[in-house]
Amino acid sequence: MLSLPSDPGLGRELAHFLGSRYSETIYKVFPDGESYLRFPEISDDVVMLVLTSYPDQNRSLLELLFSVELLSSKGINEIYAVVPYLAYGRQDKEFLSWEIVSGRAVLKIMRHVGLKKLFVVDFHSEKLLEEFSDLLTNILPIKTFGQYLKNKIEEPYILIAPDVGASRRVKLVAEYLNKEYVIIRKIRDRVTGEITHELPNNLDVRGVNAVIIDDIISTGGTIASIAKHLAMKGAQRIYVLASHGLFTADSLNKLRFSGVSKVAVLNTVRYRLTSDLIEYLDVTGEVAEQIKENLT
Ligand code: R5P
Repeated sequence: MLSLPSDPGLGRELAHFLGSRYSETIYKVFPDGESYLRFPEISDDVVMLVLTSYPDQNRSLLELLFSVELLSSKGINEIYAVVPYLAYGRQDKEFLSWEIVSGRAVLKIMRHVGLKKLFVVDFHSEKLLEEFSDLLTNILPIKTFGQYLKNKIEEPYILIAPDVGASRRVKLVAEYLNKEYVIIRKIRDRVTGEITHELPNNLDVRGVNAVIIDDIISTGGTIASIAKHLAMKGAQRIYVLASHGLFTADSLNKLRFSGVSKVAVLNTVRYRLTSDLIEYLDVTGEVAEQIKENLT
């Protein structure tokens, strides 16, 4: 297990869970901004790199490519990576003609340079998961979310998928807990990027807690918009579970002012906000279990 500079703190524990050796890289950034990495001498046939791609997605992904290239040129064939948050998943097709499909480009380059398997947590794009099924293993944090809900959220509550794309994740959590869930309709203007939401007319949340489950919180706009609707419909408390808390710009204020009581996110990025609104959940155990299952 080789921890790259952007490892969000999973490497050492993963190595422990998987019973493998753990090493770190020697790392510096030159004054002009270029990355320098040096590995300890490796005699293993299998190497697993651990890193994440937020913040500084471009640098961390390039450092992954440099690393795979070096390992491959040293004759190591079994090169795997664990990237709990894999950036660029949202640009998985040309929404407007001649847009760069960065999600596909990143994965193609990784495969080309010699990466054999890439373990990701809750990757955004179903499309790329299908297209790169030989490379990608997607780990959905169903147990981590399910246990958190069981232990922390007061009944009665209803599970909410913020759009159709989020419904698979929410369905699996609902099955784990034996609960019902609701899907919200999302309408996005591709040019302005403006998003609106439509809640089902018959959705009754009066006196009930609502739990919105999504993959990414970036600007907080998606969650804030839905939370406002739920608050207007009389939801008691609004909770949010998301895999990746990027929390850009003033997302925290947006979430707070939309009526959200608590946001729980996973430890998939190398960035932690300290706030009474946010709680971090450790997904390392679930990742280790899935890696074990997939590699044996
Ligand atoms: C969109 O399809 C994603 O699943 C997330 O809902 C979205 O990326 C969240 O972004 P933001 O926090 O900026 O609304």
